[in-house]
Amino acid sequence: MSEHLTVVDHPLVQHKLTKMRDKNAPTNEFRQLLKEISHLLAYEATRDLPTTTTRIDTPVCEMEAPVLAGKKLALVSILRAGNGLLDGILDLIPSARVGFVGLYRDEETLQPVKYYFKVPTTLEDRVTIAVDPMLATGNSSVAAIDMLKEAGAKNIIFMCLLASPEGVALMKEKHPDVRIVTAALDDKLNDKGYIVPGLGDAGDRMFGTK
Ligand code: URA
Repeated sequence: MSEHLTVVDHPLVQHKLTKMRDKNAPTNEFRQLLKEISHLLAYEATRDLPTTTTRIDTPVCEMEAPVLAGKKLALVSILRAGNGLLDGILDLIPSARVGFVGLYRDEETLQPVKYYFKVPTTLEDRVTIAVDPMLATGNSSVAAIDMLKEAGAKNIIFMCLLASPEGVALMKEKHPDVRIVTAALDDKLNDKGYIVPGLGDAGDRMFGTK
């Protein structure tokens, strides 16, 4: 699939997302819904993974059966909110290798600054799925992808729950080769950089820190 943006408009995803957007959703429900949606997003994000075949014996006969080809996937969580999506994808792809990127925003320059970076080896040979629930301004997501490419990643998918038009445009400008998979493309950003209508601060809502 070559399109830059995939919005997973499946009724189950949209129903669960609506429940997450509701400001009255309690932390445990928010977390559970995020995990459920991440399964469905990951299903779409991995639709084009390369496969090969292997010879097996079913109880009835031998067959050439499809299996995933190549090295294990790399999943990279952009801290801290990415961890909410990571848990769900790991349910689906338990053998994936896992990395973490930690960034904070310098209050003066407003640029993302790296404080943690640990990713699987030989990224160049792996499909890499970077996860962050909110593609808002796109600054930190683009910076994270820059770092993954510097570390060797060549085939990167960015998976998020919500995207803003501004974030999608920035990602397309800076990383046109990176496919975005999201549950919704919202209307805009507000002046604080929150996605509108959005769901608020994804990290606070999933970890109950507010
Ligand atoms: N990060 C969030 O958690 N929420 C937004 O709306 C934007 C960025």
